[in-house]
Amino acid sequence: MQLVRSVSQAKKIIASIKKRGMKIGLVPTMGYLHEGHLSLVRIARKKCDFLVVSVFVNPTQFGPEEDFRKYPRDLKRDLRLLKLEGVDLVFYPSVSQMYPDGFRTYVEVVEWSRLLCGASRPIHFRGVTTVVLKFFNIVQPDIAVFGSKDFQQAVIIKKMVKELNLNVRIVTGRIVRESDGLAMSSRNKYLSEKERKNAAVLYQSLKSVKRAYKKGLRKPRPAVEMMAKMIEQKGGGIDYIQTVDKDTLEPVKKLKKGTLIAVAVFFGRTRLIDNILL
Ligand code: PAF
Repeated sequence: MQLVRSVSQAKKIIASIKKRGMKIGLVPTMGYLHEGHLSLVRIARKKCDFLVVSVFVNPTQFGPEEDFRKYPRDLKRDLRLLKLEGVDLVFYPSVSQMYPDGFRTYVEVVEWSRLLCGASRPIHFRGVTTVVLKFFNIVQPDIAVFGSKDFQQAVIIKKMVKELNLNVRIVTGRIVRESDGLAMSSRNKYLSEKERKNAAVLYQSLKSVKRAYKKGLRKPRPAVEMMAKMIEQKGGGIDYIQTVDKDTLEPVKKLKKGTLIAVAVFFGRTRLIDNILL
């Protein structure tokens, strides 16, 4: 497994891999890997000949008040885990490699980047699409794998790929959960013991709505209210609970197959997201 820090070296290696006709896979990450990331790596490993994982805490997707500086990092551990998964190349650029002085170019999927998480994190998705497009240009993957916990991110990236005619297939992996149902996230580490215990309500509330839907509930509002009540009882501060179409992220008037229930909640200062598909 090679560790590559510079864009020029990564491009050189990729050029030689392309020449050999190998299929390239990419899993972009911000590091501090958990089973959720590793499940994406395993999906990608099966679908390509040369597997690249990027580890980069991307400053442009964090707002000024957000946790860019304190975002957890542990490269040594990440490398150990990625080696065990048979990764070929870890791309670990510095901020100045990705964003040299005077950097001015951003790509944004307009409007969709302001929905759901974008309402409270207005620059987030612009940062994500910009860095992901840069990774695509550097690594030239045939496939790239993203997680479904960040459902909106995956939808936005698919839209960018389609509209900018990029030659990469986007694959999504399932949400990996802890034994009590909490979706795995590098940010779970910020939770106090009590917050961590209470945060399990997120998935419980999503499952309650899905159960109610199966029994005939079709109105979004009672579904949202049911979730809000459960979450607030456990001390969660709701950023949003929304019922949207899984492809367009538009709010739905009626719950149906393909409706995404998406939620963002603060436990203490930690913002967690989760979702379920009906
Ligand atoms: O999902 C993430 O970890 C990040 O948003 C990504 C896709 C690696 C871009 O920085």
